[in-house]
Amino acid sequence: MATLKLLISESQIQECVGRLAKLVQADYQAQPLLVVGVLHGSFVFLSDLIRHMHLPIQVDFVRLSSYRRSTKSSGTVRLHHGIRTSVVCKNVLVIEDIVDSGQTLTTIIDMLSARQPRTVEVVTLLNKEIRREANITARWIGFEIEDRFVVGYGMDLDHRYRNLPYIA
Ligand code: IMP
Ligand code: MG
Repeated sequence: MATLKLLISESQIQECVGRLAKLVQADYQAQPLLVVGVLHGSFVFLSDLIRHMHLPIQVDFVRLSSYRRSTKSSGTVRLHHGIRTSVVCKNVLVIEDIVDSGQTLTTIIDMLSARQPRTVEVVTLLNKEIRREANITARWIGFEIEDRFVVGYGMDLDHRYRNLPYIA
């Protein structure tokens, strides 16, 4: 087992999630929202975040991959599972665990934008600005982090560590 170094504690995450939920919710002013989680990494963040948001919410998921058993992006994003819910005229909120090169997010935004949503915004728990290749940014960001590979709170290394309540 690799040695893990604590980066963001459980209480720091929970405080941040509550704060993000308030900011997001304030923007939608009680309007219905379709949240789109990016599997698998965002499932823990999504489930915590939406429980702080008091809006009519629909949930769907997309599944993409670019990392494939390594800590560096492969550069090509593959879509394995698209959304089934109609996005036409809806406010859509994409929920990400981490934005790194930005390739994954670009693929998702392009796919959603082609389906006539009312709005598309992004909330991400983590942002690695230094690694950005695509010209894209999330509207709401939990934490800016350095160029380190992180695990926990949904995020994995080769399918492990997703269940950690903190980020390491
Ligand atoms: P991007 O397409 O390079 O922006 O990569 C985005 C996806 O790669 C994220 O949604 C994560 O699933 C994964 N990823 C990027 N950095 C990390 C990391 O440090 N730990 C775990 N997964 C990561
Ligand atoms: Mg992800």
